[in-house]
Amino acid sequence: MKKGFIFDLDGVIVDTAKYHFLAWKKLANGLGIDFTEEENEQLKGVSRVRSLQKILTWGNKSLSSEEFTDLMAKKNDDYLSYIDTMDESEVLPDVHKVLDILKRHKQPVALGSASKNAKPILEKVNLLQDFNAIVDGNDVSRAKPDPEVFVTASRLLGVDPKACIVFEDSVAGVEAANIAGMVSIGIGSEKVLGHADYVFKDFTQISEDFLNQLINE
Ligand code: BG6
Ligand code: MG
Repeated sequence: MKKGFIFDLDGVIVDTAKYHFLAWKKLANGLGIDFTEEENEQLKGVSRVRSLQKILTWGNKSLSSEEFTDLMAKKNDDYLSYIDTMDESEVLPDVHKVLDILKRHKQPVALGSASKNAKPILEKVNLLQDFNAIVDGNDVSRAKPDPEVFVTASRLLGVDPKACIVFEDSVAGVEAANIAGMVSIGIGSEKVLGHADYVFKDFTQISEDFLNQLINE
């Protein structure tokens, strides 16, 4: 059966979580709300709107819709100022290795990200041309754990969702892959991503044999 490989972006291909953290922390602290690394973990894979709603709930604050829109724009401007400094060196270890192996085996590869900044980021790290399809936050209306982003990617690749394999670093993303009936591969800690079919610390732990097994099973 023809397989399809779908990669999340933030935390899988590049470590942008640290930039999201800095931008959200500045925003939260500006509102007098504490913001910790643990809270940032809960925002991984979560859309921009939903992230701000969660921060406001944690801080027990409410905003007018104008203030809300204004803060979302400020956060994104701040985030983009970090993104602007990115280059190829920020691609996480062995991501190129895995993409090269899949290319050699002629496997279709898609991006499935909640981010509306996915394309500029891929451009910055020189990976835009490595994906056969890109689905990002501009293309979907339902956020992870809804599987819309991955199902859309499978459709663009022309691959049955059940024959897709998803690489994800977030709790919500692994859940979305599982709901879609895809093979979920957690990239990160077993403690956080225990609901994935497989968990690897990072791509250095993923061998060509393992990829071959996924391609052929
Ligand atoms: C996800 C990130 O990939 O994209 C989240 O894990 C982020 O932290 C979401 O909020 C939306 O990203 P952006 O770039 O559109 O604000
Ligand atoms: Mg992610």
